[in-house]
Amino acid sequence: MEDVKGKVYFETYGCQMNFSDTELVAGILAKDHYEVVTDINDADLIFINTCSIRENAEQRVFSRLKHLRGMKRRKGKELVVGVMGCMAERLKTNLIEKEKLVDVVVGPDAYRDVPRLIQMAKLGEKGINTLLSLDETYENITPLRTEGISAWLTVMRGCDNFCTFCVVPFTRGRERSRPVESIVKEVELLSAEGRTKEITLLGQNVNSYSDSGKQFGALLEAVAAVDRSIRIRFATSHPKDFSDDVLLAIRNNENLCKYIHIPFQAGSTKVLADMNRTYTREEYLSLIDHMKTMIPGVSLSTDVMVGFPGETEADFEDTLDIMRRVKFDTAFMFKYSPREGTKAFKMGDNVPDEVKTDRLNRLIEVQERISFENNQKRIGNIETILIEGPAPRGVNFLRGKTDSNVACVFQAEPGMKPGDLVKVRITSGTGHTLKAEVLKDETVSI
Ligand code: 5AD
Ligand code: SF4
Repeated sequence: MEDVKGKVYFETYGCQMNFSDTELVAGILAKDHYEVVTDINDADLIFINTCSIRENAEQRVFSRLKHLRGMKRRKGKELVVGVMGCMAERLKTNLIEKEKLVDVVVGPDAYRDVPRLIQMAKLGEKGINTLLSLDETYENITPLRTEGISAWLTVMRGCDNFCTFCVVPFTRGRERSRPVESIVKEVELLSAEGRTKEITLLGQNVNSYSDSGKQFGALLEAVAAVDRSIRIRFATSHPKDFSDDVLLAIRNNENLCKYIHIPFQAGSTKVLADMNRTYTREEYLSLIDHMKTMIPGVSLSTDVMVGFPGETEADFEDTLDIMRRVKFDTAFMFKYSPREGTKAFKMGDNVPDEVKTDRLNRLIEVQERISFENNQKRIGNIETILIEGPAPRGVNFLRGKTDSNVACVFQAEPGMKPGDLVKVRITSGTGHTLKAEVLKDETVSI
Protein backbone atom coordinates (compact mmCIF):
# COMPACT_ATOMS: atom_id res chain seq x y z
CA MET A 1 0.00 0.00 0.00
CA GLU A 2 1.18 3.50 -0.81
CA ASP A 3 2.12 5.79 2.10
CA VAL A 4 -0.42 8.24 3.43
CA LYS A 5 0.11 11.56 1.60
CA GLY A 6 -1.34 13.70 4.35
CA LYS A 7 -3.99 14.05 7.01
CA VAL A 8 -7.01 16.10 6.11
CA TYR A 9 -9.55 17.72 8.41
CA PHE A 10 -12.89 19.07 7.11
CA GLU A 11 -15.05 21.74 8.66
CA THR A 12 -18.44 22.26 7.01
CA TYR A 13 -20.79 25.26 7.11
CA GLY A 14 -24.20 25.68 5.52
CA CYS A 15 -26.75 23.35 4.01
CA GLN A 16 -27.02 19.56 3.69
CA MET A 17 -25.65 19.85 0.17
CA ASN A 18 -22.40 21.16 1.62
CA PHE A 19 -22.19 18.26 4.06
CA SER A 20 -22.73 15.92 1.15
CA ASP A 21 -20.02 17.70 -0.88
CA THR A 22 -17.58 17.36 2.01
CA GLU A 23 -18.12 13.58 1.89
CA LEU A 24 -17.48 13.72 -1.85
CA VAL A 25 -14.15 15.52 -1.47
CA ALA A 26 -13.26 13.21 1.43
CA GLY A 27 -13.93 10.32 -0.98
CA ILE A 28 -11.73 11.85 -3.67
CA LEU A 29 -8.88 12.45 -1.21
CA ALA A 30 -9.20 9.05 0.48
CA LYS A 31 -8.80 7.45 -2.94
CA ASP A 32 -5.72 9.59 -3.45
CA HIS A 33 -4.20 8.19 -0.21
CA TYR A 34 -5.05 10.97 2.19
CA GLU A 35 -6.31 10.08 5.64
CA VAL A 36 -9.36 11.94 6.99
CA VAL A 37 -8.89 12.93 10.64
CA THR A 38 -11.40 14.17 13.20
CA ASP A 39 -8.97 16.20 15.35
CA ILE A 40 -7.85 19.43 13.70
CA ASN A 41 -4.51 19.29 15.58
CA ASP A 42 -3.58 16.09 13.74
CA ALA A 43 -4.14 17.67 10.32
CA ASP A 44 -1.63 18.97 7.81
CA LEU A 45 -4.48 19.90 5.48
CA ILE A 46 -7.59 21.79 6.58
CA PHE A 47 -10.57 22.28 4.28
CA ILE A 48 -13.36 24.69 5.14
CA ASN A 49 -16.54 24.04 3.18
CA THR A 50 -18.22 27.43 2.97
CA CYS A 51 -21.66 28.96 2.59
CA SER A 52 -22.59 32.29 1.00
CA ILE A 53 -26.34 32.26 1.46
CA ARG A 54 -26.41 35.08 4.03
CA GLU A 55 -23.86 37.66 5.16
CA ASN A 56 -23.47 36.12 8.62
CA ALA A 57 -22.59 32.72 7.11
CA GLU A 58 -19.67 34.35 5.28
CA GLN A 59 -18.63 36.32 8.36
CA ARG A 60 -18.43 33.13 10.37
CA VAL A 61 -16.10 31.59 7.81
CA PHE A 62 -13.89 34.70 7.72
CA SER A 63 -13.44 34.76 11.46
CA ARG A 64 -12.68 31.05 11.44
CA LEU A 65 -10.03 31.55 8.74
CA LYS A 66 -8.46 34.39 10.72
CA HIS A 67 -8.30 32.09 13.70
CA LEU A 68 -6.60 29.43 11.56
CA ARG A 69 -4.00 31.97 10.46
CA GLY A 70 -2.38 31.64 13.90
CA MET A 71 -2.17 27.90 13.47
CA LYS A 72 -0.72 28.38 10.01
CA ARG A 73 2.00 30.67 11.35
CA ARG A 74 2.99 28.06 13.88
CA LYS A 75 3.05 25.17 11.44
CA GLY A 76 4.37 27.14 8.44
CA LYS A 77 4.41 25.41 5.05
CA GLU A 78 3.50 22.14 6.72
CA LEU A 79 -0.11 23.24 6.94
CA VAL A 80 -2.25 23.74 3.85
CA VAL A 81 -5.57 25.55 4.29
CA GLY A 82 -8.23 25.20 1.62
CA VAL A 83 -11.58 26.81 1.03
CA MET A 84 -14.24 24.93 -0.90
CA GLY A 85 -17.92 25.52 -1.68
CA CYS A 86 -19.98 28.61 -2.36
CA MET A 87 -17.58 31.31 -1.16
CA ALA A 88 -14.83 30.08 -3.46
CA GLU A 89 -15.94 31.80 -6.64
CA ARG A 90 -17.13 34.99 -4.99
CA LEU A 91 -14.15 35.57 -2.79
CA LYS A 92 -11.16 33.88 -4.35
CA THR A 93 -9.15 37.06 -4.84
CA ASN A 94 -10.02 38.32 -1.39
CA LEU A 95 -9.10 35.08 0.28
CA ILE A 96 -5.86 34.42 -1.51
CA GLU A 97 -4.42 37.76 -2.46
CA LYS A 98 -5.77 40.36 -0.07
CA GLU A 99 -6.21 38.45 3.11
CA LYS A 100 -3.60 35.74 2.42
CA LEU A 101 -5.65 33.34 4.45
CA VAL A 102 -5.67 30.25 2.28
CA ASP A 103 -3.56 28.21 -0.15
CA VAL A 104 -6.28 26.36 -2.06
CA VAL A 105 -9.62 27.66 -3.34
CA VAL A 106 -11.91 25.20 -5.06
CA GLY A 107 -15.44 25.79 -6.34
CA PRO A 108 -18.36 23.33 -6.20
CA ASP A 109 -17.75 21.91 -9.68
CA ALA A 110 -13.97 21.49 -9.43
CA TYR A 111 -13.66 18.91 -6.67
CA ARG A 112 -12.04 16.31 -8.94
CA ASP A 113 -9.15 18.75 -9.22
CA VAL A 114 -8.51 18.93 -5.46
CA PRO A 115 -5.51 16.51 -5.39
CA ARG A 116 -3.71 18.58 -8.05
CA LEU A 117 -4.51 21.85 -6.32
CA ILE A 118 -3.06 20.52 -3.06
CA GLN A 119 0.13 19.52 -4.87
CA MET A 120 0.43 23.03 -6.28
CA ALA A 121 0.00 24.51 -2.81
CA LYS A 122 2.70 22.22 -1.45
CA LEU A 123 5.05 23.51 -4.14
CA GLY A 124 4.40 27.02 -2.89
CA GLU A 125 1.95 28.04 -5.59
CA LYS A 126 -1.68 28.96 -5.11
CA GLY A 127 -4.12 26.28 -6.17
CA ILE A 128 -7.28 27.86 -7.53
CA ASN A 129 -10.07 26.30 -9.58
CA THR A 130 -13.49 27.87 -9.43
CA LEU A 131 -14.69 26.92 -12.89
CA LEU A 132 -18.35 26.01 -13.00
CA SER A 133 -19.48 23.19 -15.22
CA LEU A 134 -22.61 22.44 -17.23
CA ASP A 135 -22.48 18.69 -16.70
CA GLU A 136 -20.46 17.74 -13.61
CA THR A 137 -22.56 15.51 -11.33
CA TYR A 138 -19.73 13.47 -9.76
CA GLU A 139 -21.69 10.39 -10.77
CA ASN A 140 -18.80 7.92 -10.51
CA ILE A 141 -17.29 9.16 -7.26
CA THR A 142 -17.89 7.28 -4.03
CA PRO A 143 -18.31 9.66 -1.11
CA LEU A 144 -16.62 8.86 2.19
CA ARG A 145 -19.58 8.79 4.55
CA THR A 146 -18.95 9.30 8.23
CA GLU A 147 -22.52 9.68 9.43
CA GLY A 148 -24.06 6.58 10.91
CA ILE A 149 -27.42 5.43 9.68
CA SER A 150 -28.34 8.45 7.55
CA ALA A 151 -26.83 9.11 4.14
CA TRP A 152 -27.08 12.13 1.89
CA LEU A 153 -27.11 11.53 -1.81
CA THR A 154 -26.91 14.44 -4.24
CA VAL A 155 -29.10 13.81 -7.29
CA MET A 156 -28.91 17.15 -9.02
CA ARG A 157 -26.70 20.21 -8.75
CA GLY A 158 -27.08 23.91 -9.45
CA CYS A 159 -30.18 26.03 -9.84
CA ASP A 160 -31.77 27.87 -12.77
CA ASN A 161 -34.52 29.62 -10.83
CA PHE A 162 -32.76 32.88 -10.07
CA CYS A 163 -34.88 33.91 -7.13
CA THR A 164 -33.84 37.54 -6.91
CA PHE A 165 -32.43 37.27 -3.36
CA CYS A 166 -30.34 34.14 -3.90
CA VAL A 167 -26.66 33.66 -4.73
CA VAL A 168 -26.93 29.92 -5.41
CA PRO A 169 -27.40 30.18 -9.20
CA PHE A 170 -24.15 32.20 -9.23
CA THR A 171 -22.12 30.12 -6.80
CA ARG A 172 -23.30 26.69 -7.95
CA GLY A 173 -24.13 27.31 -11.58
CA ARG A 174 -26.62 25.70 -13.91
CA GLU A 175 -29.00 22.88 -13.09
CA ARG A 176 -27.97 19.36 -14.07
CA SER A 177 -29.17 15.92 -13.01
CA ARG A 178 -27.17 12.84 -12.20
CA PRO A 179 -28.29 9.79 -14.23
CA VAL A 180 -30.91 7.51 -12.62
CA GLU A 181 -28.76 4.36 -13.01
CA SER A 182 -25.80 5.86 -11.18
CA ILE A 183 -28.05 6.95 -8.30
CA VAL A 184 -29.73 3.54 -8.09
CA LYS A 185 -26.33 1.88 -8.13
CA GLU A 186 -25.17 3.94 -5.18
CA VAL A 187 -28.36 3.12 -3.26
CA GLU A 188 -27.76 -0.57 -4.01
CA LEU A 189 -24.24 -0.25 -2.60
CA LEU A 190 -25.51 1.46 0.55
CA SER A 191 -28.13 -1.25 0.94
CA ALA A 192 -25.54 -4.00 0.53
CA GLU A 193 -23.27 -2.41 3.14
CA GLY A 194 -26.21 -2.61 5.51
CA ARG A 195 -25.39 0.41 7.69
CA THR A 196 -27.66 2.99 6.03
CA LYS A 197 -31.30 3.08 7.10
CA GLU A 198 -32.28 6.48 5.74
CA ILE A 199 -31.26 8.26 2.54
CA THR A 200 -31.97 11.91 1.78
CA LEU A 201 -31.89 12.75 -1.93
CA LEU A 202 -30.49 16.24 -2.30
CA GLY A 203 -30.66 19.00 -4.85
CA GLN A 204 -31.23 22.74 -4.84
CA ASN A 205 -34.48 22.06 -6.62
CA VAL A 206 -35.08 18.31 -6.81
CA ASN A 207 -38.41 18.64 -8.58
CA SER A 208 -36.79 19.82 -11.75
CA TYR A 209 -34.73 16.60 -11.80
CA SER A 210 -34.69 15.20 -15.32
CA ASP A 211 -32.67 12.39 -16.87
CA SER A 212 -33.47 11.25 -20.41
CA GLY A 213 -37.17 11.81 -19.96
CA LYS A 214 -37.29 10.46 -16.40
CA GLN A 215 -38.59 13.00 -13.90
CA PHE A 216 -38.22 13.14 -10.13
CA GLY A 217 -41.25 10.92 -9.43
CA ALA A 218 -39.70 8.14 -11.51
CA LEU A 219 -36.39 8.55 -9.69
CA LEU A 220 -38.17 8.29 -6.33
CA GLU A 221 -39.94 5.10 -7.43
CA ALA A 222 -36.66 3.59 -8.61
CA VAL A 223 -34.78 4.50 -5.44
CA ALA A 224 -37.56 3.34 -3.12
CA ALA A 225 -37.68 -0.06 -4.84
CA VAL A 226 -34.02 -0.87 -4.13
CA ASP A 227 -34.48 -1.67 -0.45
CA ARG A 228 -37.85 -1.36 1.25
CA SER A 229 -36.22 -1.22 4.68
CA ILE A 230 -34.46 2.07 3.88
CA ARG A 231 -36.40 5.28 4.45
CA ILE A 232 -36.16 7.82 1.65
CA ARG A 233 -36.47 11.59 2.07
CA PHE A 234 -35.68 14.46 -0.30
CA ALA A 235 -34.99 18.21 -0.26
CA THR A 236 -35.48 20.88 -1.48
CA SER A 237 -38.68 21.30 -3.49
CA HIS A 238 -39.79 24.37 -5.40
CA PRO A 239 -43.56 24.95 -5.57
CA LYS A 240 -43.46 25.73 -9.28
CA ASP A 241 -42.11 22.30 -10.25
CA PHE A 242 -44.05 20.17 -7.81
CA SER A 243 -46.02 17.66 -9.87
CA ASP A 244 -48.33 14.76 -9.05
CA ASP A 245 -45.83 12.06 -9.99
CA VAL A 246 -43.97 12.89 -6.77
CA LEU A 247 -47.12 12.81 -4.64
CA LEU A 248 -48.17 9.51 -6.23
CA ALA A 249 -44.74 8.03 -5.57
CA ILE A 250 -45.00 9.02 -1.90
CA ARG A 251 -48.49 7.56 -1.70
CA ASN A 252 -47.53 4.29 -3.36
CA ASN A 253 -44.26 3.56 -1.57
CA GLU A 254 -44.33 2.90 2.17
CA ASN A 255 -40.63 3.74 2.54
CA LEU A 256 -40.93 7.20 0.95
CA CYS A 257 -41.46 9.42 3.99
CA LYS A 258 -44.63 11.47 4.10
CA TYR A 259 -42.61 14.59 4.61
CA ILE A 260 -42.13 17.48 2.20
CA HIS A 261 -39.88 20.50 2.59
CA ILE A 262 -41.53 23.17 0.47
CA PRO A 263 -40.20 26.73 0.93
CA PHE A 264 -42.68 29.55 0.38
CA GLN A 265 -40.30 32.44 1.25
CA ALA A 266 -43.03 35.10 1.52
CA GLY A 267 -46.80 35.28 1.84
CA SER A 268 -47.65 38.28 -0.32
CA THR A 269 -48.07 37.86 -4.05
CA LYS A 270 -46.38 41.22 -4.63
CA VAL A 271 -43.25 40.17 -2.70
CA LEU A 272 -43.30 36.73 -4.35
CA ALA A 273 -43.30 38.46 -7.75
CA ASP A 274 -40.39 40.71 -6.71
CA MET A 275 -38.60 37.56 -5.56
CA ASN A 276 -39.23 35.91 -8.97
CA ARG A 277 -40.78 32.91 -7.25
CA THR A 278 -43.24 32.47 -10.16
CA TYR A 279 -46.30 31.58 -8.04
CA THR A 280 -48.93 33.56 -6.18
CA ARG A 281 -49.99 33.08 -2.55
CA GLU A 282 -53.20 31.43 -3.78
CA GLU A 283 -51.28 29.02 -5.98
CA TYR A 284 -49.03 28.08 -3.07
CA LEU A 285 -51.98 27.52 -0.76
CA SER A 286 -53.84 25.40 -3.30
CA LEU A 287 -50.70 23.29 -3.87
CA ILE A 288 -50.56 22.68 -0.11
CA ASP A 289 -54.26 21.74 -0.01
CA HIS A 290 -53.64 19.34 -2.87
CA MET A 291 -50.70 17.74 -1.01
CA LYS A 292 -52.79 17.33 2.11
CA THR A 293 -55.59 15.69 0.13
CA MET A 294 -53.31 13.37 -1.80
CA ILE A 295 -51.28 12.36 1.27
CA PRO A 296 -53.38 12.51 4.41
CA GLY A 297 -51.23 13.32 7.43
CA VAL A 298 -48.35 14.65 5.31
CA SER A 299 -45.78 16.57 7.34
CA LEU A 300 -44.67 19.88 5.85
CA SER A 301 -41.72 22.15 6.51
CA THR A 302 -40.67 25.38 4.87
CA ASP A 303 -38.17 28.22 4.46
CA VAL A 304 -39.40 31.77 4.85
CA MET A 305 -37.77 35.17 5.15
CA VAL A 306 -38.69 38.60 6.49
CA GLY A 307 -37.58 42.02 5.39
CA PHE A 308 -37.22 41.50 1.65
CA PRO A 309 -36.87 44.92 -0.05
CA GLY A 310 -40.20 46.74 -0.03
CA GLU A 311 -41.90 44.30 2.38
CA THR A 312 -44.65 46.24 4.18
CA GLU A 313 -46.41 45.32 7.42
CA ALA A 314 -49.37 44.15 5.32
CA ASP A 315 -47.08 41.92 3.23
CA PHE A 316 -45.67 40.47 6.43
CA GLU A 317 -49.19 39.80 7.75
CA ASP A 318 -49.72 37.72 4.59
CA THR A 319 -46.66 35.68 5.57
CA LEU A 320 -48.04 35.09 9.07
CA ASP A 321 -51.35 34.14 7.50
CA ILE A 322 -49.73 31.42 5.39
CA MET A 323 -47.98 30.01 8.48
CA ARG A 324 -51.29 29.90 10.37
CA ARG A 325 -53.16 28.26 7.48
CA VAL A 326 -50.61 25.64 6.45
CA LYS A 327 -49.41 24.71 9.96
CA PHE A 328 -45.93 23.52 9.06
CA ASP A 329 -44.24 21.13 11.47
CA THR A 330 -40.99 23.03 11.08
CA ALA A 331 -40.01 26.35 9.55
CA PHE A 332 -36.53 27.70 8.85
CA MET A 333 -36.94 31.45 9.29
CA PHE A 334 -34.47 34.08 8.14
CA LYS A 335 -33.90 37.80 7.93
CA TYR A 336 -33.31 38.88 4.35
CA SER A 337 -29.61 39.46 3.76
CA PRO A 338 -28.57 41.40 0.63
CA ARG A 339 -26.14 39.50 -1.59
CA GLU A 340 -24.00 41.35 -4.09
CA GLY A 341 -24.64 40.38 -7.70
CA THR A 342 -28.27 39.37 -7.17
CA LYS A 343 -31.20 41.36 -8.58
CA ALA A 344 -32.59 42.11 -5.14
CA PHE A 345 -29.28 43.72 -4.17
CA LYS A 346 -30.11 46.56 -6.55
CA MET A 347 -33.54 47.03 -4.95
CA GLY A 348 -31.90 48.40 -1.78
CA ASP A 349 -32.05 46.82 1.65
CA ASN A 350 -34.82 49.17 2.75
CA VAL A 351 -36.45 47.36 5.68
CA PRO A 352 -34.63 48.53 8.83
CA ASP A 353 -32.89 45.83 10.85
CA GLU A 354 -35.09 46.52 13.94
CA VAL A 355 -38.17 45.88 11.82
CA LYS A 356 -36.66 42.66 10.45
CA THR A 357 -35.83 41.50 13.96
CA ASP A 358 -39.32 42.30 15.20
CA ARG A 359 -40.95 40.46 12.29
CA LEU A 360 -38.65 37.48 12.71
CA ASN A 361 -39.50 37.25 16.41
CA ARG A 362 -43.21 37.40 15.69
CA LEU A 363 -42.82 34.72 13.04
CA ILE A 364 -40.89 32.46 15.40
CA GLU A 365 -43.53 32.91 18.08
CA VAL A 366 -46.34 31.90 15.74
CA GLN A 367 -44.40 28.90 14.42
CA GLU A 368 -43.47 27.68 17.90
CA ARG A 369 -47.11 27.61 18.88
CA ILE A 370 -48.03 25.74 15.71
CA SER A 371 -45.24 23.16 16.16
CA PHE A 372 -46.43 22.65 19.73
CA GLU A 373 -50.06 22.25 18.66
CA ASN A 374 -49.13 19.85 15.86
CA ASN A 375 -47.25 17.69 18.33
CA GLN A 376 -50.11 17.77 20.84
CA LYS A 377 -52.34 16.36 18.08
CA ARG A 378 -49.90 13.46 17.71
CA ILE A 379 -50.45 12.26 21.29
CA GLY A 380 -51.95 8.77 21.20
CA ASN A 381 -50.70 8.11 17.65
CA ILE A 382 -48.81 4.93 16.86
CA GLU A 383 -45.59 5.82 15.04
CA THR A 384 -42.57 3.97 13.68
CA ILE A 385 -39.32 5.48 14.92
CA LEU A 386 -35.93 5.02 13.31
CA ILE A 387 -33.52 4.94 16.26
CA GLU A 388 -30.59 7.35 15.85
CA GLY A 389 -28.78 7.13 19.20
CA PRO A 390 -28.96 7.91 22.90
CA ALA A 391 -31.25 10.77 23.94
CA PRO A 392 -29.44 13.92 25.10
CA ARG A 393 -31.15 13.66 28.50
CA GLY A 394 -32.34 10.76 30.59
CA VAL A 395 -30.45 7.60 31.42
CA ASN A 396 -31.26 4.72 29.14
CA PHE A 397 -33.39 6.85 26.79
CA LEU A 398 -33.09 6.70 23.03
CA ARG A 399 -33.88 9.26 20.35
CA GLY A 400 -35.04 8.85 16.80
CA LYS A 401 -37.36 10.30 14.17
CA THR A 402 -40.89 9.61 13.06
CA ASP A 403 -41.62 9.12 9.38
CA SER A 404 -42.76 12.77 9.49
CA ASN A 405 -39.24 13.79 10.63
CA VAL A 406 -40.19 14.78 14.19
CA ALA A 407 -37.70 13.95 16.96
CA CYS A 408 -38.96 11.42 19.48
CA VAL A 409 -37.47 10.07 22.75
CA PHE A 410 -38.41 6.92 24.65
CA GLN A 411 -37.06 4.48 27.21
CA ALA A 412 -34.73 1.90 25.70
CA GLU A 413 -35.63 -1.78 25.79
CA PRO A 414 -32.87 -4.40 25.98
CA GLY A 415 -31.23 -5.02 22.62
CA MET A 416 -32.43 -1.85 20.91
CA LYS A 417 -29.75 -0.08 18.86
CA PRO A 418 -29.31 2.76 16.35
CA GLY A 419 -30.69 1.82 12.96
CA ASP A 420 -33.54 -0.27 14.41
CA LEU A 421 -37.14 0.59 13.67
CA VAL A 422 -39.45 0.53 16.65
CA LYS A 423 -43.21 0.99 17.08
CA VAL A 424 -44.22 3.48 19.76
CA ARG A 425 -47.26 5.27 21.09
CA ILE A 426 -46.82 9.04 21.53
CA THR A 427 -47.49 10.06 25.13
CA SER A 428 -46.57 13.76 25.19
CA GLY A 429 -44.88 16.45 23.16
CA THR A 430 -43.22 19.85 23.23
CA GLY A 431 -42.71 22.06 20.18
CA HIS A 432 -39.55 20.19 19.22
CA THR A 433 -39.72 16.68 20.63
CA LEU A 434 -42.22 13.91 21.18
CA LYS A 435 -42.12 11.48 24.08
CA ALA A 436 -43.32 7.96 23.54
CA GLU A 437 -43.68 4.48 25.01
CA VAL A 438 -42.45 1.43 23.14
CA LEU A 439 -45.14 -1.00 21.99
CA LYS A 440 -43.85 -4.46 22.65
CA ASP A 441 -44.70 -7.46 20.50
CA GLU A 442 -45.66 -5.24 17.56
CA THR A 443 -44.50 -6.24 14.10
CA VAL A 444 -42.54 -3.34 12.77
CA SER A 445 -42.62 -2.30 9.17
CA ILE A 446 -41.22 0.96 7.92
N1 5AD B 1 -31.25 36.27 2.68
C1 5AD B 1 -31.91 35.52 3.60
N2 5AD B 1 -32.26 34.25 3.39
C2 5AD B 1 -31.93 33.69 2.22
N3 5AD B 1 -32.16 32.46 1.72
C3 5AD B 1 -31.63 32.40 0.48
N4 5AD B 1 -31.06 33.57 0.16
C4 5AD B 1 -31.25 34.40 1.21
C5 5AD B 1 -30.91 35.74 1.48
N5 5AD B 1 -30.27 36.50 0.59
C6 5AD B 1 -32.91 31.43 2.44
C7 5AD B 1 -34.12 30.97 1.63
C8 5AD B 1 -33.68 29.61 1.15
C9 5AD B 1 -32.81 29.15 2.29
C10 5AD B 1 -31.90 28.03 1.96
O1 5AD B 1 -32.10 30.31 2.64
O2 5AD B 1 -35.22 30.88 2.50
O3 5AD B 1 -34.77 28.75 0.93
FE1 SF4 C 1 -31.89 29.95 -4.46
FE2 SF4 C 1 -34.37 30.07 -5.45
FE3 SF4 C 1 -32.60 28.32 -6.49
FE4 SF4 C 1 -33.57 27.92 -4.03
S1 SF4 C 1 -34.78 27.93 -5.94
S2 SF4 C 1 -31.41 27.77 -4.66
S3 SF4 C 1 -33.80 30.01 -3.24
S4 SF4 C 1 -32.48 30.57 -6.57
